[in-house]
Amino acid sequence: MAEKNLADKEKNARAHLGETLFELRNRFGKKGEARFFRAPGRVDWLGSHTDYNQGLILASTVNREIIVAARLRPDKALNFYSLNLKQAVNTSVDKNKPDPKHGFANYPKGIINELCQAGVKVPGMDMVFYGDIPIGANLSSSAAIEAASLEAVLGLLDRPMTRWERAFICWRAENNFVGLPCGILDQFTIINSKKDCALYLDCDNLASELIPFTFDRFYLLVIDSGVGRHLVKSEYTKRVHECRAAYTALRKAGYKIKSLSQLAPEQIKEIGPKLDPVLFKRVRHIVTENQRVSLARKVVSKKDFHKLGALFEAGYQSSSRDYENSCKELDILHDLMAKAPGVMGTRIAGAGWGGCLVSLVKKVDFREIEARVKKPYQKKTGRELRFFPVETGDAPGEII
Ligand code: GLA
Repeated sequence: MAEKNLADKEKNARAHLGETLFELRNRFGKKGEARFFRAPGRVDWLGSHTDYNQGLILASTVNREIIVAARLRPDKALNFYSLNLKQAVNTSVDKNKPDPKHGFANYPKGIINELCQAGVKVPGMDMVFYGDIPIGANLSSSAAIEAASLEAVLGLLDRPMTRWERAFICWRAENNFVGLPCGILDQFTIINSKKDCALYLDCDNLASELIPFTFDRFYLLVIDSGVGRHLVKSEYTKRVHECRAAYTALRKAGYKIKSLSQLAPEQIKEIGPKLDPVLFKRVRHIVTENQRVSLARKVVSKKDFHKLGALFEAGYQSSSRDYENSCKELDILHDLMAKAPGVMGTRIAGAGWGGCLVSLVKKVDFREIEARVKKPYQKKTGRELRFFPVETGDAPGEII
């Protein structure tokens, strides 16, 4: 089963605490006590691209995380180092601007910038990061860096902040500083969900529910297609604009809706002739995906894994056909997974256009699935697959 492997992985990031401290002292000086903070990644269970349409999502944290050794400085210098990427970035609170060359450091820089905008006096800081969340695997390592950085700054300044506010600081950092016009799914899930829970969220009013949940003999298997997500920023932004255009067209046609998510499934047929065919497909995905999340919420409480798997499948078909955020390789991988043992359903994880799929798997060790799928996929695409079995993980906090 996947459990042994999961337990090993869980220890993985924490096993690097000593190394983060060593780098911090070695690179940025011996003076000053450091403390450790962490935040998990997330996996979306259903609700693909519904968040920026004020729709519904179901997601959870994962048992992979970003850890950071951090301390305050007496000056205004901001020093960041990533143990994974072996990249150092040095700047200062006064010169804290987005810089594409700064890569990962734009996330903590964005957090510090948002805190400053919110009136928090942030001094200089040293931060060294390590993570066992695979980069580019749709497990939101970026939102986890944001959340871990925020935990560190607030913790070191001894400043309280509600979870709701924390999610928004991270979300604004991503939108304003990093420049991806994303919804709140990643940041809200990482900050508000908990181990052994699924998070249901209505992005219209941010009403959320933590549904107690354990996978028992099931687990989620994230499979990295090996296709880089270089299209994500442009295609994602395009979809955000298409949804806005569809909304504007429907308003003009007399629909008194606040967002696309206020359309009922019964209205899909009648809106067809009122929209450009591409925009219609986008709307159909959003409306049916919201419906799938509503169903999944009930199904998860009852632990009906068969129905949950079927909803994953329906979600995949809708993404691929209507939202067009799949790609050739993801389609090949999806079809191979559909024939693999124990797989109850597979959907696109996160934004899509490459990256990962996520499957709901029953009983079978992921290595059995790997053995079935890896070679045929490689033969058809020339790419290597990576498999990450995940379970739910702890909420962000300080490591004491
Ligand atoms: C990315 C974004 C999220 C969400 C998903 C798609 O992960 O960061 O806000 O829109 O894509 O559901």
